[in-house]
Amino acid sequence: MPTATTDLRGQDFLTLADLAPEQVLGLLDRAAQLKIMQADRQPHQFLSGLSLAMLFEKASLRTRTTFMVGMSQLGGFAVDLMNEHTQIGVRESIPDIARNLERWVDALMARVYSHRTLEELAAWAEIPVINGLSDLAHPCQALADVLTIREHLGGLAGRRLAYVGDGFNVCNSLLFAGAQTGMHVRVASPVGYEPDEDMLERAQEIAEDGGGSIGIGNDPKAAVDGAEVVYTDAWVSMGLEDEAAERREVFAPFRVDRDLLALARPTAAFMHCLPAHRGEEVTDDVLDGPRSIVFDQAENRLHAQKALLVAILRGDDAFEATGA
Ligand code: CP
Ligand code: NVA
Repeated sequence: MPTATTDLRGQDFLTLADLAPEQVLGLLDRAAQLKIMQADRQPHQFLSGLSLAMLFEKASLRTRTTFMVGMSQLGGFAVDLMNEHTQIGVRESIPDIARNLERWVDALMARVYSHRTLEELAAWAEIPVINGLSDLAHPCQALADVLTIREHLGGLAGRRLAYVGDGFNVCNSLLFAGAQTGMHVRVASPVGYEPDEDMLERAQEIAEDGGGSIGIGNDPKAAVDGAEVVYTDAWVSMGLEDEAAERREVFAPFRVDRDLLALARPTAAFMHCLPAHRGEEVTDDVLDGPRSIVFDQAENRLHAQKALLVAILRGDDAFEATGA
């Protein structure tokens, strides 16, 4: 049983700011419960008869597969809208797409270039909208990340997490989730590539209230020193390809290699949202080494999102009805 309510019926999930810290913890408990149910092949078809539309303006392996498989395991159905057909904002306006989808499906998950597109979809659609990654945030990833850290370290409050690299979508959500779960988060990004200021300010307030802390700097060694988890992401995120050459130069001192990881605790875990760009933000020996938990992290996308889908589409009733 989770310690906090996970009743998020009808709510959008655009950033982690949509959840109270206790709701994040509640979702982690539900995710852990669903993970066990799946492993034990216990029936958990909580979303029978419900459907999710998935809209991708850009590529995906993990998000597409885990939402689709997750809906199927929960007894529901996911439809991939395939943007070459939908052509959001080109073939049809965002308000019109939203007002069609709400007549057929129970929720929409969208991966978009601009976070504004998600906000517009959410404003027009009566059904809940879930962020499958925008330029601002990747909150589903962060839920899976903190679930993975909790499994690996046995807890979250007071634990030390270092993020090295681009202060972009993944970083914004990770530091927010870290704040909500009482972690001490240290970010090291090149000057000019720091996390979103508004997200950071809000996360810092939450961290102060919850006993955690957020530190932002430009020195990877200082961030990693004594960390229990070291996390990185791509230098050139989707949509930023025009900046690739400049970014590869600016980010070169931020590569996570064996020497940088050696400054963390001897048992420190390495994490990456994937896809990884081997030899850029991370070396092969770190990514494939004994400290890497990147595939546990990828697996947990499935369990975390299943918990989120149940919370948004059915609330706690789903579990209570089965006595789970
Ligand atoms: N981490 C992640 O979101 O992976 P995809 O881009 O493959 O969905
Ligand atoms: N920051 C990366 C994450 C991919 C999952 C991107 O936006 O491309």
